[in-house]
Amino acid sequence: MLGKPHYTIFAVFLALIVPIKQGWAAGEAIDIPTQSWSFGGIFGQFDQAQLQRGFKFYKEVCATCHGLKFLSYRNLGQKGGPEFSEEQVKALAAEATVIDGPNDDGEMFERPGRPTDRFVSPFANDNEARVANGGALPPDLSVITKARGIPLGVPWYVEPFYWIRDIATAYQEHGANYLYALLVGYKEQAPDGVEMAEGMHYNDYFPGHQIAMPNPMSDDIVDYDDGTPQTVQQYAADVTAFLMWAAEPHLEERKRIGFRVMVYLLILTVLLYLAKKKLWSRIEH
Ligand code: HEC
Repeated sequence: MLGKPHYTIFAVFLALIVPIKQGWAAGEAIDIPTQSWSFGGIFGQFDQAQLQRGFKFYKEVCATCHGLKFLSYRNLGQKGGPEFSEEQVKALAAEATVIDGPNDDGEMFERPGRPTDRFVSPFANDNEARVANGGALPPDLSVITKARGIPLGVPWYVEPFYWIRDIATAYQEHGANYLYALLVGYKEQAPDGVEMAEGMHYNDYFPGHQIAMPNPMSDDIVDYDDGTPQTVQQYAADVTAFLMWAAEPHLEERKRIGFRVMVYLLILTVLLYLAKKKLWSRIEH
């Protein structure tokens, strides 16, 4: 058997990959629908207008409860992002009130934000955030699209090999698909037989289905001035794209360089193969 290593490798490959591809899920996994994203795939890029709309939606709706503390206002003007102009970035930053200091008298003081400031969080600390939200903590959304996602599901015998599982089930858009599903997944009424805890809301896609966040979405709550439909689905897609960018501002560059590296390696492989053939050509074998 060992004499035919390629059969063994092929068998292992089939055993591991085929069930994963078929989504043979271990345990209870919620099926998250896949969306088509402009940033998906090898050549994916962010849609600048969408990022601007998504930022607007975040600012007017989500920012009352959720911070984005790893972003600075100046990031909004960076290439590959929403690309607001310098003037717009200054104006957006100035809308925030930043606590600075201490001044010469040893006191903290308030001032308008500057482009170099980090996004100001809605609450001074986690305890204040919990008190305002009935005990639940609204997580900072800076890297939420990376932190969330429902795995595709792997067979039980792969489960213990967490490194295989993580490679096999991590795909770039899973966090975005989850976030979109979460935002459009609220139900006014829990299904029959489901006992809801006090202050909880039913959501099809939140693990356990009971979430402390009230439904933040409804049609026409934020004005788009470019004629884009003001629907829950559109809002959810826009704010998700924005949060995807927030978590990975260099996505476009990563993909561009990644592709070049693959081409480089491919050419190198061919050259090495030809060189090897040439070098060994005079040896009998
Ligand atoms: C009224 C306050 C409030 C608003 C507005 C709000 N959220 Fe939340 N959000 C919460 C709270 C509270 C939680 C924690 C829920 C829990 O743990 O049950 C939460 C949790 C979340 C989570 C984490 C879900 C998970 O998988 O753990 C995401 C993502 C999220 N919110 C996104 C958003 C987005 C995007 C918006 C804007 C469209 C938004 N939220 C608006 C209060 C809010």
